[in-house]
Amino acid sequence: MAEHGRRRWRLVLTASPLQGHMSPMLHLATFLHSKGFSITMAHSDLNRPDPLNHPGLTFLPLRDNLSATADFAGAGQFLQTLNDNCRPHFQHHLVQIIDSQKEASASEKESIVVIHDNLMFFAGSVAADLGLPSIILRTSSASFFPAINIIPQLLEQGRFPVQGPNNQILDNEEIVSELHPIRYKDLPFLCTPIEQTLKTINMIITKKPPSAFLWNTFEFLEPTGLTHIRDHYQVPVFSVGPLHKIIPTHSTSFHKEDTSCISWLDKQAPRSVVYVSLGSLANVDEKISTEMAWGLANSNQPFLWVVRPGLVKGFEWFEFLPEDLVNQMKMRGLIVKWAPQKEVLAHSAVGGFWSHCGWNSTLESMFEGVPMLCQPFELDQKVNCRYLSDVWKIGVEIVAERGEIEDAIRKVLVGKEGEEMKQRAIEIQEKVKVAISHGGSSHNSLEAFVDYILSL
Ligand code: UDX
Repeated sequence: MAEHGRRRWRLVLTASPLQGHMSPMLHLATFLHSKGFSITMAHSDLNRPDPLNHPGLTFLPLRDNLSATADFAGAGQFLQTLNDNCRPHFQHHLVQIIDSQKEASASEKESIVVIHDNLMFFAGSVAADLGLPSIILRTSSASFFPAINIIPQLLEQGRFPVQGPNNQILDNEEIVSELHPIRYKDLPFLCTPIEQTLKTINMIITKKPPSAFLWNTFEFLEPTGLTHIRDHYQVPVFSVGPLHKIIPTHSTSFHKEDTSCISWLDKQAPRSVVYVSLGSLANVDEKISTEMAWGLANSNQPFLWVVRPGLVKGFEWFEFLPEDLVNQMKMRGLIVKWAPQKEVLAHSAVGGFWSHCGWNSTLESMFEGVPMLCQPFELDQKVNCRYLSDVWKIGVEIVAERGEIEDAIRKVLVGKEGEEMKQRAIEIQEKVKVAISHGGSSHNSLEAFVDYILSL
């Protein structure tokens, strides 16, 4: 139990039921527990973490009344329902703890701090109502913040979305002058109706600053984004990434990992395999996935492809692919439903990661020094893709068309350009390792965060 003078601490954490949010929160919870804090991990009923994988943490399932088929894609409505439904139970739990403290002896009294992700905004509001400090863990890139923060202003000035003569939305290559090197086409909500965009931004951007932020990134990688955030919020911002490397934890995965792919990777030549995964949320249509399949088959490189059930709209798995194509693919590749991604990226056979550029996938790839093929969809992914290809220069942007895919795979895995990307990826990997080691920026930042909690 962390104590400061005579005080004891209970940290109540909660993250939204999305893989890319829950995993970093569980890593943070494990770290804070190792520092002696008592931890309660509140979570929605949908996509529960497995308590058996996290001994020492107390789990609090919140009655969310969400169905297993909840539409994550309809972000605004889903988030509102999630927050409305989780709030009463969460509040009731905190009130119970506070009431129980009234009878507790001085040595048993606990100070409570709430830590939540930006999507579980009800937790910050409950904390404010009860007079408790709250801290937000942000699981997306720091560079994404200025890009989303500027959208209301661009909408007001009529600069976004960029429209053609018939009001069609243009994939505009022009750079947003305030956001170099981000182009208009890299901004989120490009094709979302304006009202819905504003509503969603209002929900996820955090208008009233919490006591502090934790950001799953590192100082050397995103100095401009972090400066923007600090100037904007004027509260402490601790950059503590990559959280998955700070402390070992058991699996944080909602899905069962197919570990058979590791023995398959063992049989492949070093740096020969392209690993393909579009994360836990993205959906593609049949046409795009068929192009992806042809691109992989024609590249003549071995590949490991995660086809998550539900990834392809309207289909169970990949049953729509023509039989001769599947046979051709099986000669070189392996398709699984869910992979132990961190282990895969750490495998010496993997030479490239074809990704949707979710922030966790990006950090995991960076930590292993693996160059990327970038196929972003929404939210922060297009901004991450732009940074990967244009700033950090460890990725190439791809369009899901078989010829382009084939070229891009060769470029990254066997070409001179790929070799240069690999060198830069290794340089970044070295810097990340320094950041998380004793005396490094993320390590120091986490230690400073612990002191910060103790000072509250
Ligand atoms: C979402 C958003 O899409 C992303 O843009 C945002 O940055 C975070 O929230 P998601 O789409 O799930 O996340 O992508 P990502 O952030 O990359 O997280 C996916 C996680 O699932 C990674 O930690 C990855 O290791 C894991 N994963 C993915 C597996 O363990 N196995 C798989 O087969 C695929």
